Amino acid sequence: TRPLRVGIAGLGTVGASVIRILDRQTESIAQRGGRPVQVVAVSARDRTKDRGVDLSRFTWFDSPADLAASADVDCVVELVGGADGAALETVRTALSHGRHVVTANKALLAKHGLALAKLAEEKGASLAFEASVAGGIPIIKTLREALPANRISRLYGILNGTCNYILSRMELEGLTFQECLKDAQRLGYAEADPTFDVEGFDTAHKLAILTSLAFGTEIDAEAIYVEGISSIAPLDLAMAKELGFRIKLLGVAERTRTGIEQRVHPTMVPRTSAIAQVMGVTNAITIDADAVRELTLIGPGAGGDATASAVVADIADVAAGKAQPLFGVPLDRLERAPRAPMQRH
Ligand code: NAP
Ligand code: HSE
Repeated sequence: TRPLRVGIAGLGTVGASVIRILDRQTESIAQRGGRPVQVVAVSARDRTKDRGVDLSRFTWFDSPADLAASADVDCVVELVGGADGAALETVRTALSHGRHVVTANKALLAKHGLALAKLAEEKGASLAFEASVAGGIPIIKTLREALPANRISRLYGILNGTCNYILSRMELEGLTFQECLKDAQRLGYAEADPTFDVEGFDTAHKLAILTSLAFGTEIDAEAIYVEGISSIAPLDLAMAKELGFRIKLLGVAERTRTGIEQRVHPTMVPRTSAIAQVMGVTNAITIDADAVRELTLIGPGAGGDATASAVVADIADVAAGKAQPLFGVPLDRLERAPRAPMQRH
């Protein structure tokens, strides 16, 4: 059988992990998908950087968009990052040529997701993005495939590993915000620009994607009220503790009488609640729905291998020819949801 020829654009924390995992899972992926997956091309900025993987087997492209245009690639894995620039050009080029795309880029999807999904649909290509939300947690598959019996009323959770890691260590170890952020960067959890993490924008990007899937609405990141954790001081954490609470950065989307309300902000949660026990880089997402009542998924929210796990799942799906409607319903059936005014809770 002809292998699925994969090009990896971006060889940082996630890209290098994807290559390592594909190397060690070659057999099982081939069996699952009915055909082998073969990395044939790679691209990054610095050709000389040691990434702990042997790249000499692959064709090197200085430009990720050139990789995306290559006729030798069937599936482009975009792990460059950023809402515009090289990432957008790479994904647009790949889809325009009818090549499948797998991406972990929530900033890109929050801004251009609908237009890219339309392009993918028009060209008969897949656009897969399991890794874009909550790292290794299979939340996209869950929302898209596992809950057709349900009407979802609310979805909320910890969607940024960096922030949860910072808040956890500040509280438990008395470290400063800056010390914790530095460690999160060293461990590969933070975005290239960590402002996206600590100011709540990364959580908002992910929430926008989840809202679209959960409620069948167009992605609308602009509608989200966003407040991050950069002004949380050790005293705030101590005061919350004194009162029997813990502070978590939550993303919340819920159906209200006036429309879908979406918001991101630090929240006091009772210390005895399940969500208060979620510490470190771990993420958690709770879905409230009529049939399952309450469903919570908990798992690693960031980091190379955890995120690569989701990327590889998408690659395996593409290899197996499992095309899913991108947002759970045909694109022309996505609603433009009325924006509910932000309620103070
Ligand atoms: P990263 O470590 O910064 O890696 C980015 C890679 O892209 C690097 O290899 C870089 O090349 C390459 N690159 C950047 N700009 C480029 C350009 N203009 N042309 C060519 N190559 C370029 O980022 P990452 O943490 O792996 O994240 C990648 C994507 O996954 C992002 O969209 C991020 O939001 C998402 N994501 C990350 C995580 C995580 O835990 N890290 C989790 C979920 C999703 P050089 O190495 O040569 O500089
Ligand atoms: N910077 C992100 C986080 C990566 O910390 O959650 C995972 O999307």
